[in-house]
Amino acid sequence: MLERNRSFRFYQPELGHDLPHDPFKAIIAPRPIGWISTVDEHGRQNLAPYSYFNAVSTRPPAVMFSSEGTKDSVRNAMSTREFVCNLATAALAEAMNQSSASVAREVNEFELAKLATAPCRLVRPPRVAASPAALECKVLDVLQLRDLDGQPTDRHVVLGQVVGIHIDESCLENGRFMTAKAVPLARCGYNDYASVTSVFSMLRPDEVL
Ligand SMILES: Cc1cc2nc3c(=O)[nH]c(=O)nc-3n(C[C@H](O)[C@H](O)[C@H](O)COP(=O)(O)O)c2cc1C
Repeated sequence: MLERNRSFRFYQPELGHDLPHDPFKAIIAPRPIGWISTVDEHGRQNLAPYSYFNAVSTRPPAVMFSSEGTKDSVRNAMSTREFVCNLATAALAEAMNQSSASVAREVNEFELAKLATAPCRLVRPPRVAASPAALECKVLDVLQLRDLDGQPTDRHVVLGQVVGIHIDESCLENGRFMTAKAVPLARCGYNDYASVTSVFSMLRPDEVL
């Protein structure tokens, strides 16, 4: 049904907009935050949040994150072919934010954000010990984004297969991971964040109880 009296603003990103701030990321919100830990070829640790992050497949379980610029995380993932996605939670918001500081390659953001590490089982990067879930990943592919003119951009999408999953037992209830108990943090637009504190359930049309 068409609603009356609604007016829409339209703009073409290529030509710009007349808003004080770019609304793009506020529209695609909330975005999960992949808090990516990696090591470089010398074993030096790195940690940074990426909200251009998501799951892309269940079988095989696969995730992606995208780097705007050739940042340390993508560099490390390309050279060592491994990364870990730690679940960023409301309780870890400050530390997550600190780990996003633009610092020299050799700076360990685990130390910068005063975060303890815990070892992974199948990959070299450590996980964030305080995070209630972490995905150990091996790199499947790194795609360099091209624009509509076919021009390569300095945007790099890292695809990884999840080979190991850590779950804090306290987030499990009746064998289910209780998302609202973990209180994941999500990125909205501008400097805004959201956190998941409640969920509701719906069955798909072809599902029965
Ligand atoms: C919540 C949040 C989400 C972010 N998401 C991205 C992202 O998706 N892609 C990106 O390139 N930078 C993103 N950034 C910025 C990076 O975290 C930042 O540039 C960081 O220094 C990169 O670290 P690295 O060079 O160690 O990889 C984000 C920052 C914050 C705080």
